[in-house]
Amino acid sequence: MRKKVIAGNWKMNNDLSESQNLISKLISGLSNEKVNCDVIVCPPFTSLSEANSLLKKSIIKLGAQNMYFEENGAFTGEISASMLKNTGCEYVILGHSERRTIFGETDQVINKKIKKALQSNLLPIFCVGESLQERESEVTNDIIKRQITEGLKNISSAEMQKIIIAYEPVWAIGTGKTASPQQAEDVHAFIRGLVKSLYSNEIAEELVIQYGGSVKPDNAKELLSQKDIDGALVGGACLKSESFIEIIKAA
Ligand code: PGA
Repeated sequence: MRKKVIAGNWKMNNDLSESQNLISKLISGLSNEKVNCDVIVCPPFTSLSEANSLLKKSIIKLGAQNMYFEENGAFTGEISASMLKNTGCEYVILGHSERRTIFGETDQVINKKIKKALQSNLLPIFCVGESLQERESEVTNDIIKRQITEGLKNISSAEMQKIIIAYEPVWAIGTGKTASPQQAEDVHAFIRGLVKSLYSNEIAEELVIQYGGSVKPDNAKELLSQKDIDGALVGGACLKSESFIEIIKAA
């Protein structure tokens, strides 16, 4: 039985005091709830260290939103996997569509990042998803297949067991348009089948596949009740403790 995983991607939001405030509200809001899923928050880099101190005694785990694949050196503006580990991160989001489209990250770069994260004992949340134009041209599965086979190139079975995949249709991110539960389930089932053919039935059955793209308290329950949807990667709705907690409760 796969355990659901709800992760909050804060993106470029919340300075230090706003981060402290949100984390404190999440901790107190969840203290009286029976939480049946894993919960992860991914604040901006500048808040990670403080978030780690605040989260020490809570059930909430810490993740980062990006990293570079080199160990150290002349890479101005970048941050390494070991630096993230050092601030207490357990997870790192890789291949988010905003990284792909705004910052030009390719499948090959994302593959290098996934490998480096795994070598450094960070658990990747590996994002894939098609654009609106790709969906309308009916090439969604081809795009997902390319992103997954390239992104997971030379990743061993043992490593694959440490990866979470997040399916995030680009047209649903931050737009208020959610994939219907059936649209999402179809792609999730396709991803699980693909992982089965690349690895094994066992690995595919254990794989956590999150859905992301305008997940809100009012649509979370239906999305999360689909057979192959094992959690959510939440953007906008994770910035308010009330809505993030509602989504956690739905899981
Ligand atoms: P959204 O973002 O929930 O605001 O659509 C999701 C994401 O980008 O991970």
